[in-house]
Amino acid sequence: MNNKLTIGTPLSPSATKVMLLGSGELGKEIIIALQRLGIETIAVDRYPGAPGHQVAHSAHVIDMADGAALRKLIEHERPQVIVPEIEAIDTATLLEIERLGISRVIPTARAVHLTMNREGIRCLAAEILGLPTSPYAFASSLEELCEAIENDIGYPCIVKPVMSSSGKGQSKVGRMEEVEAAWNYAAIGGRVNQGRVIVEGFIHFDYEITQLTVRAMSTNDEVETHFCEPIGHIQINGDYVERWQPQPMPPLALQRARDIAEKVTTELGGLGIFGVELFVNGDDVWFSEVSPRPRDTGMVTMCSQLQNEFELHARAILGLAVDTSLRDPGASAVIYGRLEEQAIAFSGVDEALRVPQSDLRLFGKPESFIHRRMGVALANGADAFEARTRAKLVASRVVSQRDWKNR
Ligand SMILES: Nc1ncnc2c1ncn2[C@@H]1O[C@H](COP(=O)(O)OP(=O)(O)O)[C@@H](O)[C@H]1O
Ligand SMILES: [Mg+2]
Repeated sequence: MNNKLTIGTPLSPSATKVMLLGSGELGKEIIIALQRLGIETIAVDRYPGAPGHQVAHSAHVIDMADGAALRKLIEHERPQVIVPEIEAIDTATLLEIERLGISRVIPTARAVHLTMNREGIRCLAAEILGLPTSPYAFASSLEELCEAIENDIGYPCIVKPVMSSSGKGQSKVGRMEEVEAAWNYAAIGGRVNQGRVIVEGFIHFDYEITQLTVRAMSTNDEVETHFCEPIGHIQINGDYVERWQPQPMPPLALQRARDIAEKVTTELGGLGIFGVELFVNGDDVWFSEVSPRPRDTGMVTMCSQLQNEFELHARAILGLAVDTSLRDPGASAVIYGRLEEQAIAFSGVDEALRVPQSDLRLFGKPESFIHRRMGVALANGADAFEARTRAKLVASRVVSQRDWKNR
């Protein structure tokens, strides 16, 4: 039992303070889950009015890739716990903060550092842990990339910047003539233009899953690994559009997926939830990537699980008990901005919520882009298929509007 934990009073000297680095829609839900447990929350993002800013006890705007600014803010706020929600953070500062014992970094500063770069985590997974992955190589120039594809990886393959997420800068290459365009696209799409890419052999999978995996304290004061039911998803251009839980899997494939998830999360260590992405073909399972935090794909758990991924993360990082049980089959569908505009409005919310067993979240982002995720539709059903049909219907009924003044 975690007898060491005491939770103080927010906004008082006894407060238990948690700082979110990144306060988008995922951070917003983590903050709400933490506040329900009496935690004082500090939301940090690079633009004002971010979703998490709107619900936290205090809000800050800084560039988290700026180590000096990050250090100054952490030393000013002195949170007991720091929860990274995005990858674009100066991880050298987090390593230093953890080493000096100023704050605990979730799950560990090393895990955050390794997973922000595809190179760090892929080498760890494939070379040190020996997990099955696609064939891969790294390249720092167009020449190196051509050489790696021609000599080792072959076609089709996928080229990705080493630092990027949500499919940004990623392309599938079918023949040599397409390599240069993929190299140039990766250079624009990377988070930090490092001029370095990973090229992966294309895996022909039946489906892909996110295996949410939670490291939490047991009654014996040991870290225990818990698994959620697998989440299936469909991507368009690398971006998640639809997800459902549970994704049915043959027992052997499920066992393999969990073995992989356990190995990689044990190696990364610390406490909290991890999203392990895997490709599945029959009984074969490949590790794709892992992030040490709640995932966009895991939003479906807001309707499908007893404790959603944000509640699981909040409990786990505080050393509290978790329960990863499924409640009902569920699905989610993204609500996109569809407009390039500040301060848009949404109509059709009432019609959307007339769909049986449905719910939705509007994130409250101050500015809409055509493909920006502005909300998520949620639905339950007798099975994942019914839930998916309902979630898509909910999302389709929500309409972005610019002429809100004429309502
Ligand atoms: N080697 C691969 N073979 C087949 N599909 C892939 C491969 N790598 C990525 N993909 C597809 O692209 C999506 C995004 O790739 P991923 O590596 O997860 O990038 P991101 O970090 O942007 O999510 C995957 O979910 C999968 O659908
Ligand atoms: Mg991914």
